[in-house]
Amino acid sequence: MKVVLENLTKRFPGRSKKDEAVTAVDHFSFEIPDGQLIGLLGPSGCGKSTTLNLISGLETPTEGKIFFGDEDVTDLPPEARGVGLVFQNYALYPHLTVEENIIFPLENLKGAKKLTKEAMHEKAMEAARLVQIDTLMERKPKELSGGQQQRVAIARALVKIPRVLLLDEPLSNLDARLRLQTREELRRIQRETGVTTIFVTHDQEEAMSISDLIIVMKSGKVHQIGKPQDVYDEPTNLFVAQFLGTPQINVFDGAIRNGKVWIGKEAVLDAAGKADRDVWVGIRPEGFIPDPEGPFTCKMDRVEVMGRDVSVISTHEKMTGKCIRSIVSSENRFAPDQKEVRFRLKPYKVFLFDKESEERV
Ligand SMILES: Nc1ncnc2c1ncn2[C@@H]1O[C@H](COP(=O)(O)OP(=O)(O)O)[C@@H](O)[C@H]1O
Ligand SMILES: [Mg+2]
Repeated sequence: MKVVLENLTKRFPGRSKKDEAVTAVDHFSFEIPDGQLIGLLGPSGCGKSTTLNLISGLETPTEGKIFFGDEDVTDLPPEARGVGLVFQNYALYPHLTVEENIIFPLENLKGAKKLTKEAMHEKAMEAARLVQIDTLMERKPKELSGGQQQRVAIARALVKIPRVLLLDEPLSNLDARLRLQTREELRRIQRETGVTTIFVTHDQEEAMSISDLIIVMKSGKVHQIGKPQDVYDEPTNLFVAQFLGTPQINVFDGAIRNGKVWIGKEAVLDAAGKADRDVWVGIRPEGFIPDPEGPFTCKMDRVEVMGRDVSVISTHEKMTGKCIRSIVSSENRFAPDQKEVRFRLKPYKVFLFDKESEERV
């Protein structure tokens, strides 16, 4: 089921003069393709949950429309939209067994849709097998680990075969290992069911690793939409460039002059055909190549060994962060008392942003 958002906007009024009105979602237009897993990504407070709540019907938009396929669902109540919802806290019924929890959404089906006990059991088993908890059906939620509880919540969201599956930070309560494992599971479940899924997270790595498309938001506005690799390789502005990637992109106060990119007194890269202007120079950690003859000179701080790669930590008077982190091959050799480190730069790992607008040049 494709999901179409048309100028979707949500404003919350302030509670007092000091508490200003917030535009939590600001004219969001996009057509989410059928059967894909969409990562909705952005820092805390950027409007991710509000967007999801608008799609599920828990919130009503101030402006704009929502379509599932060709059907306008903007005025439909949540229960009529056919969405499956999973939140960060699993919100299972503590006094019900796993099976009863999964069956719950099926119990109140009316009329022709009403199911027999056997049919409900069969559907619950099917959903449970999908998330691999079918051996735990008799247990109560408190007898399950966090990861298992979240699987029950996912099974419950899937049991009615939703038109759209909406997941709001579903992995945030899990420990690091389980989070990694569960996100792979989610990807598998989404592939197997083919349900259009919107997955909200503030964790860029999580979104990048499992999404077909990512939507990067900030302050209610969509900044970029694309395949994870494309957004990483071609960020449209400084915010997106900084939000994606670990370690973070290194940003320098620089300029374009006479067809070259300057950082301080050094021309570090060609910028033939680009007009003179002041820029932020963003360099991905993997964009540095140590080279004694290289044009970019930094002050050596230390080298951290990571096995296959090493991380060279250096500084520069024009850097904007605390230090420069570059990831280079462990075949490079550094002297223990080395004061300086010189680099060549990979042009496709260097992005230039306008000083004022912070848009890509
Ligand atoms: N019910 C509400 N009333 C007033 N403001 C709200 C309400 N819900 C969310 N907000 C505000 O809207 C903005 C976006 O919130 P939210 O969608 O929860 O962000 P996210 O999920 O990305 O962390 C925040 O500034 C938040 O304070
Ligand atoms: Mg949220």
